[in-house]
Amino acid sequence: MLTLQLVSLAVALGGFLPQVALARPKSYGVWAADSIISRGQGHGLDNNNAPRVSYEHGEFQWALRLLYEKTGNKTYFDYIRTGVDNIVQEDGSVLAYTIPYASLDPLRAGPSFMYLYEKTGAAKYKKAADLFRSQLNVQPRTPEGQFWHRSTYPNQGWLDGIYMADVFYARYTLAYQPTNATAWADVAKQFHLQWAHTLQYPNATDAGITQLLYHGYDSERTAVWALPDRGRAPHIWLRAVGWYAMALVDTLELFPRSHPDYAKLLAYAKFMFPKIRDAADKGSGVWWHIMTEPGRAGNYFESSGAAMFVYASLKAVRLGYVSDADGSIVKGMKKAYGYATSNWVTPLANGTMDWEMTVNVGSLGSNGTYEYYIAQPIALNDLKGAAAFVLASLEYERL
Ligand SMILES: *[C@@H]1O[C@H](CO)[C@@H](O)[C@H](O)[C@H]1NC(C)=O
Ligand SMILES: *[C@@H]1O[C@H](CO)[C@@H](O)[C@H](O)[C@H]1NC(C)=O
Ligand SMILES: *[C@@H]1O[C@H](CO)[C@@H](O)[C@H](O)[C@H]1NC(C)=O
Ligand SMILES: *[C@@H]1O[C@H](CO)[C@@H](O)[C@H](O)[C@H]1NC(C)=O
Ligand SMILES: *[C@@H]1O[C@H](CO)[C@@H](O)[C@H](O)[C@H]1NC(C)=O
Repeated sequence: MLTLQLVSLAVALGGFLPQVALARPKSYGVWAADSIISRGQGHGLDNNNAPRVSYEHGEFQWALRLLYEKTGNKTYFDYIRTGVDNIVQEDGSVLAYTIPYASLDPLRAGPSFMYLYEKTGAAKYKKAADLFRSQLNVQPRTPEGQFWHRSTYPNQGWLDGIYMADVFYARYTLAYQPTNATAWADVAKQFHLQWAHTLQYPNATDAGITQLLYHGYDSERTAVWALPDRGRAPHIWLRAVGWYAMALVDTLELFPRSHPDYAKLLAYAKFMFPKIRDAADKGSGVWWHIMTEPGRAGNYFESSGAAMFVYASLKAVRLGYVSDADGSIVKGMKKAYGYATSNWVTPLANGTMDWEMTVNVGSLGSNGTYEYYIAQPIALNDLKGAAAFVLASLEYERL
């Protein structure tokens, strides 16, 4: 809270509107969520108020659910419900969603359907969840069994897709098919294949050696960016690792401990979170947008990936997935969080806050080069980043 008071003081001394400090919630998580809500973001609609099934909305709804559980404030629950009601129809069909297109992205909205079914008992939410689950039965796969990220990206597994599909897949299996051993093994297999094909080896020739995961791979090596080494992408993109890290902790929380694959998922967490700690820039405490090119001209500290790392790392420590005997993981994440609140949170005169420095896209639909990634626009109040900041804040505030 010290940081908040200092910011308030700075605002007051600066002579901008001192009452801003009074209107601002004590919790950054509440402040960020209320600001997102005040802008009407994450509400199942696009900028033209047309229905939109969006992983960003699903990510934000997960944060709102945690915030509702923490505060008991029904505003957050109602925002999830009205957002989902903008896309789920009375018969359980979902607007602006088609299976033949077969992208993993929309599936991140699936856990919100399940949550509303659990809370309200309304059958339409269960039907919508079943519809999303049925996509996984027909989703195209690599010869080894990795879901294609999208039907238009043949044989490509992206880290992003692990977050989009597997958290839903695990949650659905736990709720409705807890004894489906095939499904549990399949959830784990997605993590395994992605890990095996994208892990950066210590002997890699990149400028930045992190032993984290390259953005994706093409099992058939036909994509323009696919390298002879496992068909992997050339770069480690911060947010992609963030998606994988969040997926790992959110899935471990659901995965049956008695299942033989649990230990393997746990081993990834034990390996990954210390590497994330170590990959932080020594001065700032946060991470480079392109982790394979630290300090290179055009590279910068990106905010969505940092928020995801803080959330996932603190949660991994809290739930005991990784040991932090010397406290260095928590210490590193506190430093990163401090950087985030000092540099990426801007208080506005009307009492809301802006979230800065989140890159809009990073896609392997591109040529996968460094030049591509650094040329992507940075968006103000990008929901992928702002929602991750709510999640990071919720974990930080539990410390
Ligand atoms: C607060 O101010 C910002 C910047 O002027 C504006 O974009 C936003 O819509 C305002 N929010 C509310 C709730 O008035
Ligand atoms: C619940 O949250 C909303 C939005 O932040 C806020 O306006 C309202 O005062 C809160 N209600 C309670 C009871 O705290
Ligand atoms: C169990 O999961 C597998 C893999 O997703 C699926 O093919 C199968 O239909 C599921 N079994 C049941 C009984 O739903
Ligand atoms: C680098 O390490 C990996 C994993 O241990 C190994 O498979 C690969 O052959 C090594 N490459 C070189 C060039 O030594
Ligand atoms: C890759 O794409 C970027 C723009 O996204 C472009 O600047 C760059 O020249 C391209 N590089 C190659 C090798 O095609």
